[in-house]
Amino acid sequence: MLHQGFSSKTTHLNQQSSRYLHVITWGCQMNVYDSNRMVDLLRPLGYKITDKAEQADILILNTCHIRDKATEKVFSELGRLKQIKDYRNQQGHPTLIAVTGCVAQAEGNIILQRVPYVDIILGPQTYHRLPKMILDVARQSGHVIETDFPVESKFDFLPTPQENTGYSAFLTIQEGCDKFCSFCVVPYTRGAEVSRPVQAIFDEATHLCQLGVKEITLLGQNVNAYHGKGPDGNIWNLARLAEKLSTLSGLTRIRYTTSHPRDMNDSLINAHRDLPSLMPFLHLPVQSGSDRILKAMNRGHTASEYRQIIDKLRKARPDIALSSDFIVGHPGETQKDFEDTMQLVRDIQFSQTFSFKYSPRPGTTAYISTHQVKEEIKNKRLQALQTLLKEQQNQFNKNTVGLTIPVLFTGKGRKEGQLSGKSPYLQAVHVQSDDSLIGHECQVKIKESLSNSLSGVLV
Ligand code: SAH
Ligand code: SF4
Ligand code: F3S
Repeated sequence: MLHQGFSSKTTHLNQQSSRYLHVITWGCQMNVYDSNRMVDLLRPLGYKITDKAEQADILILNTCHIRDKATEKVFSELGRLKQIKDYRNQQGHPTLIAVTGCVAQAEGNIILQRVPYVDIILGPQTYHRLPKMILDVARQSGHVIETDFPVESKFDFLPTPQENTGYSAFLTIQEGCDKFCSFCVVPYTRGAEVSRPVQAIFDEATHLCQLGVKEITLLGQNVNAYHGKGPDGNIWNLARLAEKLSTLSGLTRIRYTTSHPRDMNDSLINAHRDLPSLMPFLHLPVQSGSDRILKAMNRGHTASEYRQIIDKLRKARPDIALSSDFIVGHPGETQKDFEDTMQLVRDIQFSQTFSFKYSPRPGTTAYISTHQVKEEIKNKRLQALQTLLKEQQNQFNKNTVGLTIPVLFTGKGRKEGQLSGKSPYLQAVHVQSDDSLIGHECQVKIKESLSNSLSGVLV
């Protein structure tokens, strides 16, 4: 699974054309969605995607700012892209470099000062202006920067996705964050929380289904805070939106990420009981099991409130798989606070998780705290936590051995004759089969639990 600031991906959709676009995507699922939408925006201008940077007339680096060294990582990648740009320019192929995403938003001016060969700098809320910016660069032969938070919504300017986006697609329904956790840059890079109207989401989902999509993951930095305008003029919450989407024929699976414990209301919990297409998996970041640290983090909930939510969820949908994010070494975290996190993990039992060392981010409130935790202590705590979390993941996977579960096959596996798909609990599953089952959900008997996936046989 792609996760915030954690994974990287190059968008592949190679086709024949005279003008090419190469997109490098770092960061969370919302960046993956944004990259796909930038491709959609440039398609009418004749740009086709290529997985070879050397072939591209436009190179887009879509960046993430969540943890430290984010900007350094961007500069180092830009050094590589500059060599490509210089070589292509020498060959008579003018080439543009665009930096987009959350580092562009936060550090756009610094990037231009340090690397003047970048042509375009775009924030996450302004990428609908990309086609115009490309024309502007061509006209004025200088760089263009757009990192304001515009009054217009980019979604009103994006074309509908035009090509088969695979069988599992992302759909952004909510953006931005007003919560201002002590450690986090997202409210500064993505701006204030905004929900898209129900009809716009429904139309996009309908279109994705017409393209063959079977699974949609609804995205938002606080997706369960969704409060979009419904067709009846009222404000709809995520549960109501999911119910409406579940009426779409062909859409067999609905997921959503990332949720905040504060917004986990009863209607959404009950939707896990009532909607068969709402998958039994929830990524619900807790960050810490210590009330003192949760308060310092400005999370707005206690550890016991988190436990209560999990109890309710398990009553509503007993097999629900739980995922979370953890930060160790937030300023002021004592050994006792860390032990509280370990205890919460032992009590809840997660199926898969992400855990990070606290990373000081300039501009956030935790950055200026005088109680920073030593690096060696952070390292030790992270190792202990990850060992426990890995044991739980292994146990969760082992518990599925012997079960027969539906698997949605989305592509070929790594080995010859293998197909790869996802269980309802978001585990990777491999079976031996020919390609005809790609795009189908089939019953699979799980035979073996491997380190990061399951293997099974079709029944
Ligand atoms: N909106 C989501 C998470 C967004 S950021 C939520 O509220 O939970 C994704 C994850 O990155 C966070 O859950 C957190 O665990 C991690 N993260 C964010 N800022 C961080 C920082 N400064 N240091 C370490 N991890 C961080
Ligand atoms: Fe960041 Fe907190 Fe907002 Fe999540 S809720 S995006 S962690 S500020
Ligand atoms: Fe990274 Fe921005 Fe997503 S900082 S996690 S790409 S919202």
